[in-house]
Amino acid sequence: MKHFLSILALLTLVACQPKDPVERKIDRLIAQMTLDEKIAQMTQLSGGQITENLENQVRAGLGSMLNSMGEEADYYQRIAVEESRLGIPMIFARDVIHGYRTIYPIPLGQAATFDLALVEEAARLTAQEAMQAGIRWTFSPMVDISRDPRWGRIAESYGEDTYLASEMGAATVRGYQGKDSIVQMAACVKHFVGYGASEGGRDYNTTWIPEVQLRETYLPPFKAALDAGSLSLMCSFNDLNGVPLSANKHLMKDILRDEWQYDGLLVSDYASSENMIKHGNCADLKEATLLSINAQMEMDMESHAYLLHLKDLVKEGAVKEDLLDVCVRNILRMKFRLGLFDNPYCALETPNYYNSESLATTQRLAEESAVLLKNNGILPLNTKHSSQNTPMTVLVCGPLADSQHDQNGTWCFDKVDSATVTPLMSFRQWAKEGKIRLIEQPGKHWSREVSEANIEQLKRLAKQAEVVLYFGGEESILSGEARCRAHLDLPGDQSEQLRTLKATGKPVVLTVMAGRPLCIGADIDAVDAVLYAFHGGTMQGPALANLIMGKVAPSGRLPVTFPQAEGQIPIYYNKKNSGRPTYNPVLYDDIPVGAAQFSIGADSYWLEYGDKPLYPFGYGLTYTTFEYGPVTLSDTILLQASSPHRLIATCTIKNTGHCEAVAIPQLYIRDLVGALTRPVRELKGFQRVSIPAGESRTVTFEITEEELAYWHLADGITLGADGAYAFSAEKGDFHVWIAPNSAEGEPAKFALR
Ligand code: GLC
Repeated sequence: MKHFLSILALLTLVACQPKDPVERKIDRLIAQMTLDEKIAQMTQLSGGQITENLENQVRAGLGSMLNSMGEEADYYQRIAVEESRLGIPMIFARDVIHGYRTIYPIPLGQAATFDLALVEEAARLTAQEAMQAGIRWTFSPMVDISRDPRWGRIAESYGEDTYLASEMGAATVRGYQGKDSIVQMAACVKHFVGYGASEGGRDYNTTWIPEVQLRETYLPPFKAALDAGSLSLMCSFNDLNGVPLSANKHLMKDILRDEWQYDGLLVSDYASSENMIKHGNCADLKEATLLSINAQMEMDMESHAYLLHLKDLVKEGAVKEDLLDVCVRNILRMKFRLGLFDNPYCALETPNYYNSESLATTQRLAEESAVLLKNNGILPLNTKHSSQNTPMTVLVCGPLADSQHDQNGTWCFDKVDSATVTPLMSFRQWAKEGKIRLIEQPGKHWSREVSEANIEQLKRLAKQAEVVLYFGGEESILSGEARCRAHLDLPGDQSEQLRTLKATGKPVVLTVMAGRPLCIGADIDAVDAVLYAFHGGTMQGPALANLIMGKVAPSGRLPVTFPQAEGQIPIYYNKKNSGRPTYNPVLYDDIPVGAAQFSIGADSYWLEYGDKPLYPFGYGLTYTTFEYGPVTLSDTILLQASSPHRLIATCTIKNTGHCEAVAIPQLYIRDLVGALTRPVRELKGFQRVSIPAGESRTVTFEITEEELAYWHLADGITLGADGAYAFSAEKGDFHVWIAPNSAEGEPAKFALR
């Protein structure tokens, strides 16, 4: 009996001991921490200057700082490590969203590449640069599903599709954090959750998202990023179904902690706890503090809520100190995973920024992120003038032809503008090499500028040129946080400039550098070719020159639907079919004046446009043409829970043109009948395939029950609030496409039995 009891005691002891040595170190630290020190560890304050107040906060055990870098960060870190009572290092954070010094295309542009490996590489190189400035935590990737181009933060997102955003976010996390046991730079997937559904596309606003849609559309990219190892995530500013995320226990505890078993760090957005007072779900900062901590918001960014009120709440018994221990544990675990206890100082005296690898990678990403929307044959430019064998005369103009600031887009505070290579700078180089004869149109530098003189000058110069290259779009300040636009036009008098240029009779190539889709159908109709390049970063100039001059064939595909007009928003490809889908819309101008009310079609469409966008998700042209063969399936029946429990879909793609180029076959699936209505198509896979002229390539995709599953209520369609949710596939008929975009292709059919 005695022997049995001693074994039992030993097992109990082992069972109580956290198995991981890091957890034991955390145990020992927490056991020494005072209540004040725990609260300080759960606080993040903004740096950017040396102040006595910040020195004192650091000395008292501050957990983290944002916006403090380089020598300043090391200065504060030395206080944290050498002067605070327990010497716990701080973690320094920054919004390194698409590059630190070297700037890469905005995430919306990166999504257009459909190139996961290159996006991961860009994130890896970004971390290398940022770490040299002591930054070990970035507030990226942003994976908010964005179906509303009025929303300025669509620029930071990977667009409208859940699968694409999931894949891109996971690739970015892998790139930032690296593959070693010590994490390079902690990712922070954001904004948890539903921020992109803000009413009117306005920031900090209201969202109403039913649970099934949360789970089907908005949550998967976060789950993918956390499964890829993201050490943290950030809550969002929006009010979700009446409860701002900073206090939303359903999302932050039921789903994040209990269902997903996440043990990483949850940080608030900037003063988002304090914002709850304005949202109106609490009366004051003390109540906001209670709501936030009860949702297990572990770190409070800059609302000072925890510093000011958490101690009282614990003393009053409203909050148990055990809950703070859980939060502190997650914070310390992240610091151990970053190796900060062993190596707290990272800023290098001679950092290596803008190295050749980074510049080459951002240029390639910029080349791949440009989407060719229209080409009447003018591109690629034939640089040899056919008759005299002399270089072609090219006019380079437009407000983004030479803007070293705006071409980088939103959320890049640490770049050096002079390092940016613009399109005009690149074409000067092409002219220097005798490949073109360049006419420059200096002057207009801001997209919102209006200038009659500028237009007159353009007219004169265009007459001297054989082709006009116009670089237009948006100033970088017009997208990003709190940059919602109600009109999605080309700002200023760009449209008038384009019409003026077209009236000269010269071919016009429009390149758009913007942070969002724009409703520019009329402008596109007016010109001969359109490259939609988003804001493309440090090397977008050489990238665009290579594309326009034909050194590189465009391969970008739209990660978001382009509306014809703002009135169509929200418009996205994976819509539901509606009860009267549009097959042959009768349009506004076709309706005879005085027509009887129901004498024309009665379908779900806009009278002005039918149900068609300007361009569909996944769309993009190149300098050759591809012919997609029929989709063939390994079987027309997929048996539920059988093995091998998968179908193989194949398609042969032929390059029917005259130059090698990249095709991006996309796998779409439709569930024809569901307990809940299902989208008309859903992206479930994609590949990048380079195909030489005249050759063919066969691509294959695997289809399993996982691709067919969706969130619905376990008992069918009882929409009760507590209906258990099931993620499963239902037997029935399916369509499958392997297509060049979300609007083309003929489906093959199969059944799940
Ligand atoms: C901002 C943004 C968030 C950013 C944070 C820190 O308000 O919403 O994306 O990471 O504050 O700068």
